[in-house]
Amino acid sequence: FAPRHLLSIADLTPAEFATLVRNASSHKQAIKSGAIPQSLLGSLSGKTVAMMFNKRSTRTRVSTEAAAVQMGGHPMFLGKEDIQLGVNESLYDTSVVISSMVSCIVARVAKHSDVADLAKHSTVPVINALCDSYHPLQIIADFLTIYESFTPKAHGLSSLGLEGLKIAWVGDANNVLFDLAIGATKMGVDVAVATPKGYEIPADMLKVIQTAGEGVPSAGKLTQTNVPEEAVKDADILVTDTWVSMGQEEESKKRMKAFEGFQITADLAKRGGAKEGWKFMHCLPRHPEEVDDEVFYSPRSLVFPEAENRLWAAISALEGFVVKKGKIVE
Ligand code: CP
Ligand code: NVA
Repeated sequence: FAPRHLLSIADLTPAEFATLVRNASSHKQAIKSGAIPQSLLGSLSGKTVAMMFNKRSTRTRVSTEAAAVQMGGHPMFLGKEDIQLGVNESLYDTSVVISSMVSCIVARVAKHSDVADLAKHSTVPVINALCDSYHPLQIIADFLTIYESFTPKAHGLSSLGLEGLKIAWVGDANNVLFDLAIGATKMGVDVAVATPKGYEIPADMLKVIQTAGEGVPSAGKLTQTNVPEEAVKDADILVTDTWVSMGQEEESKKRMKAFEGFQITADLAKRGGAKEGWKFMHCLPRHPEEVDDEVFYSPRSLVFPEAENRLWAAISALEGFVVKKGKIVE
């Protein structure tokens, strides 16, 4: 029996992605009104979720641990000082050993090939908790946030009814953007990306994003520019992330200089002609250089509901990949 893994939103059909978001939404409503759905109650009872984190984390760690506990399971946090991951033991050995004792591995690593290798040799589902290429748990939460904040059109199972919305991503083309663009393509949401010259989406990732839209009837379109105002034009949602991702600290000075002029501000939204009711999103952690306080703490900002939605996304993903063993159904 080969387990099913969640390494990227690209692993999901549009119907599966939309289902994970809808399940997150309905579990959120039920649990917040005081009723844990019967199907979730104790659904991880007696099961351990190993959390192998090679990098820092606030939201991913807290949401995964809280989700596992709400479902009756035991989260086991294994930081980089705790286990031998990739330092004194091969990924293969680690993967075989840990997966023989737990029901799920949630892993935060640097290289995508590391989490892919873990998955290849694991006998239990592996969920990517962020690598240099993807961040699927973040994107389930982000689409839940968009689903809650914009009125969805009537839609079938393969959609969230968000077709026609436009996201403007202004800043670095990174892991969060890549999975966001994959999810958007599948949901019929357009993404316009503005990066400084030399920081565009790499060609191989562009291919992955384009492939994600194959066979999707109204796939979202991806465009790129080096001019922030162009990306922002007619956008419903302005999104950014840090200019210096974990692992890029040595490039910090160079990046700060290269990204000058890419800060999200109300003035940029105005100059570029964003839609009147535009909203702002950011996966956090946030630094003032990529978005000013005026926008970040404004009523337009969805950042705190977006962060809370990481919990509901984690519950939905653990349900889909561990409880339902990769059979993603409503
Ligand atoms: N957004 C996100 O993944 O945050 P953490 O790095 O704090 O987990
Ligand atoms: N792009 C950031 C996201 C952190 C949640 C990083 O990889 O560090």
